[in-house]
Amino acid sequence: MNNESLENLSTESRLYPPSADFVAQANAKAEMYEAATSDRLKFWEQQAERLSWHKKWNQILDWSNAPFAKWFSGGELNVAYNCVDRHVESGHGEQVAIYFEGEPGDTRTITYSQLKDEVSKAANALIELGIKKGDRVAIYLPMIPEATIAMLACARIGAIHSVVFGGFSAEALRSRIEDASAKLVITADGGFRKGNAFALKPAVDEAVQKSPSVENVLVVKRCGNEVAFGEKDIWWHDLVDKQSTEHSPEFFESETPLFILYTSGTTGKPKGILHTSGGYLTQAAFTHFNVFDLKPDKDIYWCTADVGWVTGHSYVVYGPLANRASQLIYEGTPDTPHKARWWELVEKYKVSILYTAPTAIRTFMKWGDDLPAQHDLSSLRLLGSVGEPINPEAWIWYREVIGSSKTPIVDTWWQTETGSIMISPLPGVTETKPGSAMRPLPGISAAVVNDKGEVLGNGKGGYLTLREPWPSMLRGIWGDDERYKETYWSQYPGIYFAGDGAKLDDDGAIWVLGRVDDVMNVSGHRISTTEVESALVSNPMVAEAAVVGASDEMTGQAIVAFVILRQGATEGPDTVQELRNHVAKEIGAIAKPKKILIVAEVPKTRSGKIMRRLLRDVAENRTLGDVTTLADPTVMNLISQGMTTGSED
Ligand code: PRX
Repeated sequence: MNNESLENLSTESRLYPPSADFVAQANAKAEMYEAATSDRLKFWEQQAERLSWHKKWNQILDWSNAPFAKWFSGGELNVAYNCVDRHVESGHGEQVAIYFEGEPGDTRTITYSQLKDEVSKAANALIELGIKKGDRVAIYLPMIPEATIAMLACARIGAIHSVVFGGFSAEALRSRIEDASAKLVITADGGFRKGNAFALKPAVDEAVQKSPSVENVLVVKRCGNEVAFGEKDIWWHDLVDKQSTEHSPEFFESETPLFILYTSGTTGKPKGILHTSGGYLTQAAFTHFNVFDLKPDKDIYWCTADVGWVTGHSYVVYGPLANRASQLIYEGTPDTPHKARWWELVEKYKVSILYTAPTAIRTFMKWGDDLPAQHDLSSLRLLGSVGEPINPEAWIWYREVIGSSKTPIVDTWWQTETGSIMISPLPGVTETKPGSAMRPLPGISAAVVNDKGEVLGNGKGGYLTLREPWPSMLRGIWGDDERYKETYWSQYPGIYFAGDGAKLDDDGAIWVLGRVDDVMNVSGHRISTTEVESALVSNPMVAEAAVVGASDEMTGQAIVAFVILRQGATEGPDTVQELRNHVAKEIGAIAKPKKILIVAEVPKTRSGKIMRRLLRDVAENRTLGDVTTLADPTVMNLISQGMTTGSED
């Protein structure tokens, strides 16, 4: 692990206790920690009772086949019924579930009763297309209400959704469709981004052409851009609109798969993280209620994540809807048509809870205090952060400028694999430190360990582990049980290794320091170095590539690639740009290296292993670390010289 980052731990000593007003009304209570410690399983059982079960479980946790957990087994529920129907049945049909704001300024307001109708119609449409329990449905949509409706429609009939972020390329979509053998793709003609229609359908066409498993493509008309229509294609409005609004949900066993979500690992092949129903929804709802202090009758909640990421699954769709939240969904980018768009939206909808990523916060900081100052943000009462470590400076700015120096901030640590928030302050209970995710939530057992797996005490840094199974944990990697065991459970047998470094300060607060493996975190998005390297090497000009994540003020990390060209390939004026575009085509624009350096050699040990640590030193303009183990120590001089002249845009 990078010792320097461990040593660099902030010596932050500022403390932010919750205000008396907040404490008096908070959902979370300090007693929850004690209750969970004295009987963890009973604690989770009580949380499961927040949901509506058709049949009660026989066993809270079955860990006999570890690391494959079963939570609430024997219990039966319908996830979509829990997120929609039961709120209508309890008399809240007229409550707004979704305030949708499109980037061009078009709006839609959807009540719980309308959402029930829409989800039922979509479920009936899926049935008409022959989709059955257990079938996989790929969803490749912009941030429009149909994304939520499509996910819930799958859940309602027991189909497994695999949402693929709309920014991923045709090839990335194709490989995910293939891995899950998806039968249906739900997409749109396009979405609005940065003032333009961003076409999605062409990428689907390209992917589906090479995907024999796909029988149909259901297409939402969002932008009206011209699209090619083949025999598998059906317009959403042609099929869904004519369906009945009546659909009786079936009830499924608690461990019924709910979704697969692909995330980057340390190899070139993304992992299909598998989540199931009862335990996932229990923890998503529990954390959403307590960490965000949701008051369903008062709050307007806004999580800015895209449904293509796990944050969008747990905190746009399942958690908030299970808790009967009224939420804002915004389609576009924060700078369209102007850089105060978010603050205009907070004022317009009177958003009271805002959950976003440090990259966004740092960007707003750069854009200046006068933009938020143009709008009335007094409705905000709680702010959240997720996806990467938040630096104390950004934390303080968030609280002072966006939160009028009074809102609690919850810095929430979790992963695609954990399904829900694991480490976070509880607002109204925790005295927070800017930049620290503080403590594991009640019912969660985390520890920082050394190389040998020994649990470390306060003041020490090491690796973040989770000691006990939790309800929303992943149930495996789709189609690859061995990789699941190997990736998460082999480093410290019987204990989940998260892949993050962390330090405990003198008070025992956890400071998450970021990934310790070859996974980068760019603007809160996980991208593996190997995936980008494979994309580069797939270009005929490239002989070898080494990729590192270099610290970046704005995006947390930035992708820097060192590329060796094949013999005969000569560097032209556009080579770097061509290679950057090639990566975007292979993976998606989010994986485009910020900087590519054409080099003659990359530093390797005598056994041939690339020394990324040295490349990171170069990319971050640091004095080089120890080069004595290099096969050829002079290589580094050449590379360092190139760095000062390398191309960037
Ligand atoms: O490195 C940690 C970082 O994001 C990784 C998980 O990425 P992903 O599965 O894409 O999920 C992101 C949204 C939950 C973690 O291994 N991370 C996430 N939240 C934080 C964080 N790092 C520091 N502080 C956080 N609050």
